[in-house]
Amino acid sequence: MRVLLTGGAGYIGSHVALVLLERGDDVIVVDDFSNSSPEGLRRVEKLTGGSIELVEADLADRAAAEAALADLDFEAVIHLAGLKAVGESVAQPSRYFRTNLNSTLNLLDIMRAKDVRKLVFSSSATVYGTPDADVDRLDESQPIGIGITNPYGRTKAFIEQIIADVQQAWPELEAVLLRYFNPVGAHPSGEIGEDPAGIPNNLMPFVAQVAVGRREKLSVFGDQYPTVDGTGVRDYIHVMDLAEGHVAALTHLSPGVEAYNLGSGEGHSVLEVVRAYEAASGREIPFEVVAPRAGDLAASVADPAKANADLDWRTTRTLGDACRDSWAWQTKNPNGFAPVG
Ligand code: UFG
Repeated sequence: MRVLLTGGAGYIGSHVALVLLERGDDVIVVDDFSNSSPEGLRRVEKLTGGSIELVEADLADRAAAEAALADLDFEAVIHLAGLKAVGESVAQPSRYFRTNLNSTLNLLDIMRAKDVRKLVFSSSATVYGTPDADVDRLDESQPIGIGITNPYGRTKAFIEQIIADVQQAWPELEAVLLRYFNPVGAHPSGEIGEDPAGIPNNLMPFVAQVAVGRREKLSVFGDQYPTVDGTGVRDYIHVMDLAEGHVAALTHLSPGVEAYNLGSGEGHSVLEVVRAYEAASGREIPFEVVAPRAGDLAASVADPAKANADLDWRTTRTLGDACRDSWAWQTKNPNGFAPVG
């Protein structure tokens, strides 16, 4: 298949590109490199022996999007492009809505004009907002959009709705909405991984930087949640499992819109992640408990049964595997993709 990856140079996209190339697909990436570098894709080419067609464009800019995609030939789109920092979205809501919504609207119009019918969208468990306290594993029948605590999360819920409405008007559209839980880890080679700009917002990249000595200690955001040890519980999914989930979704598309959770079904607390990372790295991770972070949930764990059944997909890697692979990436690339020195 010829697959267009929007935002394909980023953390998730580079791993999806790798899995597609290994499967023998043709990969085209469109990215504006606002939060990524072409270096990751160069490494994917080296690892796979494949080649990636790279187009630099900002899809939120209508004219630029049309110019970039007009002459490209592709049969399916995996739409990963978008802004994704929760805190930044609270400070810059219009930028988040403009960027994430306009790029998707432009993409959908271009797909329709070219009669490209296959779409896999990068959504998030954040669309479940603040679920009822008695729900311990989230399935796809949970309500969407209620109690979302930030504009970033709302862009994901809005885009899911936009895709459903566009499909009503264009019944041939084959769309899948992938609701990611917490992607972590790296390709086991340690050649590609997550390269956050500035201070990492997310737990595992922060822990990785503490382990490697780039930061002094981890702040644990709260230890009074009603969880196993009082710290927040999440469903951490290895990025290679997540990438394979995209390929599974691509091969199971049919007219309509379906949502799938991509998660392991298992929850781990912040302290469990710290211990797993200590074991994988052989380093001590100093931490201090501080106040809870605004908008955080006590727990968020997937029920992945629908994806397991319909997509014939399940996670095969553990939290320990993710820590080991994150550590390989971190030690080989202490400054991410930036040149050393
Ligand atoms: N945490 C800390 N210290 C840190 C960072 C995180 O204790 O420095 C804790 C959080 O409180 C939470 C857990 O580690 O309990 C995971 O936090 P992350 O920031 O890694 O992940 P979140 O679950 O908060 O966020 C993720 C995605 C978002 C998405 C959100 C809701 O990163 O894109 O899930 O689905 F919006």
